[in-house]
Parts: sequence; C-alpha cells; structure tokens
Amino acid sequence: MSEVVNYTVDGNIGVISVDNPPVNALSQPVRQGLHDAISAAQSDACQAIVLICAGRTFIAGADITEFGKPAVEPLLSDLLNFIESSGKPVIAAIHGTALGGGLETALSAHYRCAVANAKVGLPEVKLGLLPGAGGTQRVPRLAGVQAALDLITSGDPIPASRAHELGLIDKIVDGDLREEALAWARELVEQGAAPRKSSEQAIPEFDPAIFDGYRAALEKRARGQIAPQHIVACVEAATTHSFDEGLAVEARLFWECMKSPQSAAMRHLFFAERQAAKIDGLPKDTPLRSIESVGIIGGGTMGGGIAMSFANVGIPVTLIEIDGEALARGLSIVEKNYAAGVKRGKLSEEKAAKCRALIDGSTDYATLADVDLVIEAVFEDPELKKTIFARLDSVCKPGAILATNTSYQDVNQIAAATERPEDVIGLHFFSPANIMKLLEVVRAEKTADDVLATCMALAKRIRKVPVMSGVCYGFIGNRMLGPYFREAQLCLIEGATPEQVDTAMEAWGMAMGPVRVADLAGIDVGYKARQALPESERGDPRSYRVSDVLAEMGRLGQKTGSGFYRYDPETRKHANDPAVVEIIEREAAAFGIERRAIPDEEIVDRLIYALVNEGMRIIEEGIAQRPGDIDIVYVYGYGFPVARGGPMHYAEAIGHQRVYERVLEFRDRYGAEAWTPAPLLEKLATA
Ligand code: 3HC
Ligand code: NAI
Repeated sequence: MSEVVNYTVDGNIGVISVDNPPVNALSQPVRQGLHDAISAAQSDACQAIVLICAGRTFIAGADITEFGKPAVEPLLSDLLNFIESSGKPVIAAIHGTALGGGLETALSAHYRCAVANAKVGLPEVKLGLLPGAGGTQRVPRLAGVQAALDLITSGDPIPASRAHELGLIDKIVDGDLREEALAWARELVEQGAAPRKSSEQAIPEFDPAIFDGYRAALEKRARGQIAPQHIVACVEAATTHSFDEGLAVEARLFWECMKSPQSAAMRHLFFAERQAAKIDGLPKDTPLRSIESVGIIGGGTMGGGIAMSFANVGIPVTLIEIDGEALARGLSIVEKNYAAGVKRGKLSEEKAAKCRALIDGSTDYATLADVDLVIEAVFEDPELKKTIFARLDSVCKPGAILATNTSYQDVNQIAAATERPEDVIGLHFFSPANIMKLLEVVRAEKTADDVLATCMALAKRIRKVPVMSGVCYGFIGNRMLGPYFREAQLCLIEGATPEQVDTAMEAWGMAMGPVRVADLAGIDVGYKARQALPESERGDPRSYRVSDVLAEMGRLGQKTGSGFYRYDPETRKHANDPAVVEIIEREAAAFGIERRAIPDEEIVDRLIYALVNEGMRIIEEGIAQRPGDIDIVYVYGYGFPVARGGPMHYAEAIGHQRVYERVLEFRDRYGAEAWTPAPLLEKLATA
C-alpha cells in the first residue's frame, strides 16, 4: 500500500499495519496510507479491519516535526472521521504508547484492545496544545467528563488497566497482540457487531460545576498557560454542543494554541530535551560500563536524595558517612522521605520498603571496593573532596566511575587527585535530588568517552534529564545564577523590596522569586562561597552586602526561620519583614545610593537578560553544547516557565536585537562590568 502503511487481508479480516519508525508518528505519508487502506478495505471481501502497528509502539501522536509548517491533506481530524465512518468495524490493537493523535486514532476505531503493559494518553498540553483530532470530544463520551479533564489537562499517560476501567479500552489481551486482535475481530463478526462510533455515545452524567473548578485549579497549576484553559472549554463544548459543533470548537482552539508562542516554546523544549541527551562527536555505539551498584559518600541533603534516585529503580546503594551518628541521621531522613511518599500516595508501602531495603549504610570506605559507581556528596570543600578522591582511588576496583556532586568546584582538580582521571566525572544533582529531574553531567578534561556515555545513559535509567556541561565555576546552571542573583540584589538595594522582586518574577512565570530561592537554599551558602574568594573576586559589593549582613546576623533563610523574609515554623509560609527593608535602606545609604521606584518590567528584564547574556558566553566557551541545553537546565533545574521555552529560546523569540539593545541600555546606565554584551549576543543581534 505504501512504505509506511501496509494493508493485507487475513481470511475475512483486513489488517492495516503502520510501520513508521521510531514511534509511528502520523506524518503525511502515514495519514495518506491510512486513508487509502481504509478505502481499500471498504470494497474488498473483508468483514472487519484490525489497525495495528509495527515496531516498539502504537502511533505515538501527530508528527511534531510537521508543526509550524503548512498543513498537508489529509488532515488528521478528517482522516479520523473517515475511519469512524467505515462501514466495517475497525479494531485498534495497541501496544507501547498510544499518545495524542495516536490515541485519537484508536478512539476513532470502533473497538480497542491493548496488551497489559501498554499506556495511553493525550500529552498535547505538554506541547502547549490540545488534542486536535477529536480527543476532547470522544474521551468525555467514552470515559466521562472528569476523567477526560484529568487525562487531557495533565497530559500524563495512564496504564491500559486504568484505560480499561474508564472505558477507553474494551479488552486487555495476553499473548500475541496480532493473533488476539484477529481472533477478537472474528468473534465480533460472528456476533454481527456493527461499527460502534465513539462520537455517538452519550456523555455520562456529571456536575456542571466541574468546569469552573478545573479552570480555577489550572489557573494555579499552569499559571498563564492558554492550552489548559482551552481544553476545559473544549470538553465543556462536548457537553453543550453536537459532536460536529464540538469538533469545530476544538479545531479553532487547537489552531489558536498551535500558533501561540507558548506552544512554539514547549515544542522547542520537546526536541531540546532529546537533543541534550546527545553528545556531539561521541559515537552512538560507544560501549557502556555496567552500573549495578552505587556508593554514595555523604548522607546529607544531597546524598540521601541521590541514594533514593538509584534505589527507586532497583539499583542497590551503599551510603558512607563519617560516623555512626551521621549515618543514622542520613538514613532516618531517607526513611522519613519514603514514609512521606507513602502518606501522599506517591508509592505503596510495599514499594517503599523494597526501595529502602536497597540502601545500606557504612562508615567504612572498604565497602566500596566492588561498586560500579561512587558519587561523592560531602561538604563543598575542595580539599576534603580531593582527599576523598585520593582515598577512592586506592579503594575502588579498576573501571569504577568516580563522580562528584560538587556545585562549583573544579572537577579537573578533583580528578587530578587520583591516578585515574579518565574515570572521574561530575554528576550534579539538584535539590531535592530524588525529585528534581535535572542532572548536569560534567565532562572534565580527561573524562573517558565511555564514562560520559555511561553517565548520560544512566541518567535516563534513574529518570533524570541529563545535560552535559564543561568545567567552569558553577557549570551551566549555577554560573548563570550568579548574574541573575546579582541583579536581584542590586534591584533591592536600588529601591525594590524582596516582595516586589519576587512578585515581579513570579508574575512573569518563574516558579519562585529569586529572594525566596536565596532563603530556601540558605544565605550562608553564598556567604561561605564568597568568604572563600579574595575580595577582588567577589563582584560588586552592592550586590552582596545585604546578604552578608543577614548571614552574619544568623538569618540564614528558611532553615533558621528568617532570612530576607520571616517564616512560620509550622506552615513555612513567608511573611515580609520590615526589619529587612530597614537593613536594605541602611546599607543603600552607606553606599550613597538614593533608592527609587523600580518598574517591574525593569526588574524582569535585568534578571532575565543577565541570564541570557551569561548563557551566550557559556555557548561561546563551549561549556554548553547548544542553546537548547541551557534551556533544559533552566526549565528542569531552576523553575523557568516552560511556556517561555528557557532563557535562550526566550531571547530568540523576543528578538536578539531587542535583547541586545536593552543590554546596551543597562550597560550605559549600570556599567560595563556587569553589562558588556557577550560577543555572541552582539553577533546574533547584528547578523
Ligand atoms: N513526532 C515526531 N517525532 C517524534 C515524536 C512525534 N510525535 N515522538 C517522538 N519523536 C522522535 C523523538 O524526537 C526522537 O527522535 P530522535 O531519536 O531523533 O531524537 C525519537 O522519536 C524517539 O523519541 P524518544 O527519545 O522520546 O523515545 P522514548 O522511547 O524515550 O519515548 C515516546 C517514546 C513516549 C513516544 C516519546 O517520544 C513521546 O512522548 N513522544 C511524544 C508524544 C506526543 O507528544 N504525542 C502527541 C503529539 S501532538 C498530537 O498528537 C496532536 C494531535 O492531537 C492532533
Ligand atoms: P550536607 O552538609 O547536607 O551533607 C554533607 C554530608 O557529608 C554530611 O552529612 C557530612 O556528615 C558528610 N561528610 C562530610 N565529610 C565526610 C566524609 N569524609 N565521609 C563521609 N561523609 C562525609 O551537604 P549537601 O547540601 O548535601 O551538599 C553536598 C554536596 O552537594 C556539596 O558539594 C554541595 O555543593 C553539593 N550540592 C548541594 C546542593 C544543595 O542544594 N544542597 C545542590 C547540588 C549540589
């Protein structure tokens, strides 16, 4: 029939098979092939049609690479109406993941079976879109309004068993899917089963107040995003309009989303994430080292969370601490975290117990003799880290990977403390390490290719999103945070309050304003880091003086109950503290600064363009492989709003020239030391 869609007849059943690797996306040739196959099946002798896919999955959705380009017929929604109008029953046979347009295709079939480990979902919202081929109209008819809203606004896939309960799948099959689907098709023919159109099912009863409830919840959960609100409107339309009218509402809102900068940003992130996993110049077939056991040194804030990340996927961990007391403390935090997960319904008690049992503790480095990977997560003290790596060198087996979770230290120097620098790498997790998705994989000068490739693959195994960084102070993410925090602090001393800075940034979309982030991370962290540097390297004193004062007062942030804000000991809710504004005013006066009203727009531009300018330097220096890698770091590690696509995408979307001109304006107003445009920004702006 075509290269990507095959049609054969098996006895009295027509079999349409899609074969479009890697994920059977609905590219134009697939849509055309499906159209032609359904047409052919209408006029031959078959009595029912099975729709199945080759390779690792059922159709995983529309072809995202076609988005943003002119639509080419047949359009997916037309094709699916055509499939549904087939005079012969169509049976979809699902394995792998039926996602987006893939699930919509299955819903346009008249019957659906799936293997038990299949998953289905409508992830369009994660691309700033909504299901545009009937998903918002057919799901509420089959599964009810609440299930439809849950499925489509979350974008999270559900297992076949749940889809079966909801009525999205009719039958779960064991054994060979093709054989089972054919047998079921024959059964249906024997029973005289007619085509059963999802579009003609009545929507189960529901409470009409549900829509406003979702609108309000989504306003909080997906602040500023248009697609989730449009999804609610589409599902509501399914309940108030005919199927065809509902489809028209869906189509109008789908195209509105598709043309939005939000969707462009989120589609960019989809591809950037996949690209970030690839290392330029590293052969795809680079051999991987086997990682079946892990040692972690330091069971503090980071070590415990890192241990959980491995245990959660079944990899045993040995946690090393300085003494029995510290070890007991570390293990008890891990235990508490698992218990909290069980309480919140994140995992079952049984699963928690299984994971917990995989984490063993010791105070003896000799227990690391056989582990495949060690991750050091002790205090941020370069000398201590070097001593530990020298010790690991003498304890660990040849071929073990030796990693550091350092936030700032030079991984080359840490590697040089061993006789095997090729086995040393940085694995920079983010706090809380068992939850945050980002993993910066820091390639040192001598890191071996197979060590790097192993760590990139391992990240995926422990469900992290890896981004490679070169060695520099703070790697990609924390290095960029320097100028971002600098501007936040300068805005404070020049006239803003902590609340104004945070509210401006949160209204723009950041998950948490920078001043609250400083309180959360601990004001002492930056303070100690500055103290370790000669004064000439600490930067503009106006940008850290207030922090230093707070640190010296013992106001270290959330952990001490006060920092830039005061914190309720029970709820941890923050409150403004007039005493801090007084400190800011006093320090401003000491610098001779006359405080002024700073517009929110200036706060946002200064903070975000400071990120962008540093990001440009990071690209120029080859610390990050590509701008998209930086975007992934910021979205997954720093709460940057997905609908803005990361700082580098945002700069491109706004226009490099506009960013450049604003940077020049800031340079003229605030000085060249902070605001000299990166040569790459200048080049892009003037290209
Ligand atoms: N279109 C085009 N390319 C796609 C694609 C799609 N829908 N889905 C995946 N790919 C590509 C990836 O870019 C990647 O390419 P690469 O090898 O060149 O980097 C390759 O397929 C493999 O993808 P993954 O690395 O993600 O493979 P995994 O096995 O880890 O995951 C998956 C497979 C779960 C299917 C995952 O790829 C995924 O979630 N895909 C997107 C699904 C999706 O969003 N579908 C909805 C699309 S929008 C839609 O359908 C609109 C409709 O309502 C009109
Ligand atoms: P922490 O102070 O919470 O924990 C450090 C632990 O290391 C302590 O429990 C201590 O007893 C233990 N330790 C010290 N010396 C040891 C030794 N010789 N052998 C075994 N254990 C020893 O520190 P945290 O926050 O977990 O940081 C650890 C590392 O992770 C640092 O390098 C830090 O820069 C980095 N990091 C921290 C992040 C954070 O948000 N806290 C985020 C990302 C990285």
